Amino acid sequence: MTSGATTLAVRGGTPVRTRPFPTWPVFDGSDEARVLEALRSGKWGRLAGDQVDQFEQRFAAMHGCRYGIAMVNGTVTLRIALMAAGLQAEDEVIVPTYTFLSTATAVVEANAVPVFVDVDLATFNLDPAAVQAAITPRTRAVVPVHFAGQTADLDAIRDIAARHDLFVLEDAAHAHGARHWERPAGSVGHAGSFSFQSSKNLTSGEGGILVTNDEQLAARCRSIHNCGRVPGGVWYEHHVISGNYRLGELQGALLNAQLERLERQTATRDANGRALAARLAAIPGVHPQQRPEWCTRHSQHLFMLRLDAETFGAPREAAIEALQAEGIPCVSGYGYPLPEQPLFRNKAFGPYLPHARARLDYTQVSCPHSQRLCREQAVWLDQSLLLGTDEDMRDIGDAFEKVHAGLQTT
Ligand SMILES: Cc1ncc(COP(=O)(O)O)c(C=O)c1O
Repeated sequence: MTSGATTLAVRGGTPVRTRPFPTWPVFDGSDEARVLEALRSGKWGRLAGDQVDQFEQRFAAMHGCRYGIAMVNGTVTLRIALMAAGLQAEDEVIVPTYTFLSTATAVVEANAVPVFVDVDLATFNLDPAAVQAAITPRTRAVVPVHFAGQTADLDAIRDIAARHDLFVLEDAAHAHGARHWERPAGSVGHAGSFSFQSSKNLTSGEGGILVTNDEQLAARCRSIHNCGRVPGGVWYEHHVISGNYRLGELQGALLNAQLERLERQTATRDANGRALAARLAAIPGVHPQQRPEWCTRHSQHLFMLRLDAETFGAPREAAIEALQAEGIPCVSGYGYPLPEQPLFRNKAFGPYLPHARARLDYTQVSCPHSQRLCREQAVWLDQSLLLGTDEDMRDIGDAFEKVHAGLQTT
């Protein structure tokens, strides 16, 4: 007979955890005051107010970058960066197979061809050897994603890029506050793209920013995000294909308030992530994202691990169900690698890439690591859990150990 404490909650035992974990977003009177100030100013568009302007300067400075261009989201930032980098129709851009949709759709929307490359099974980030192997005479850019908030192998990727004259666009949508050899994520490549969508570690509900030290690139991005206008130009004069992708002042105000907390929150997530990874790694079959030396600060947008069913003694789905019943929110993440999305399988690109379509075959992309992560092994815990206390991390560790032990008996 097992006691109530060791019987899995999924089988009627007492859950490890009944208290809620920290929720997201975090806000207080300082956010209210800042947004109210912007509201009462009546200057709600960025062309009238100074909230977005201030935020751009603060965020860029925090990254050691001279330029920051805030936009409506972190998909548009990727697309506009690629457009501004001078990509021509049907140039190739290397992207990972294990990432959110936008990393690749931004490429299509820039009228370029996404070329998918598998990730490393230990770090969940682009494998530089696979990047090298994917380069063709048409390759113009590579978009490393700092998955879960851990910086990709930027040193190797930058070396490859330098040899082949590629534009390196960091997709840092998960990596606010992360550091690569102490350099802020997003500031290492030619440009860095961030998202401020609701789930992100810095959020205004929706939003994004592009940071760079390249003056020409910044000027092009600013123009494309503002209807193709140029500094000092005539108001109704539009110089490039473009649109209105400006961020609004209320969001800028909120970001200015939220930014005050980012440093402290990132330090907490990073410390909790290290502690949790060390504890969970001791459980057979549990493989937390392997952290290379270069990632001197992990932003832990996700705490991600691989669960190897054979060694763990139970399939991922059973483990997730049991963990949830123990009071630990966790999910399996993406259902399949990006090239298997119907959009890519069917090349449903609308007016984009009409000539390239015949030579594209996304059914043949080889990405065994991403497939294994999606179909069998990935487990995600949300960033807000990592804002918790030592005791909260202990509960997560206890629950994993309990579930591991409990599922052996089935
Ligand atoms: C890796 C990655 N890139 C890009 C984006 C796009 O950001 P947004 O939702 O702000 O367009 C996301 C958003 O979830 C993301 O996770």
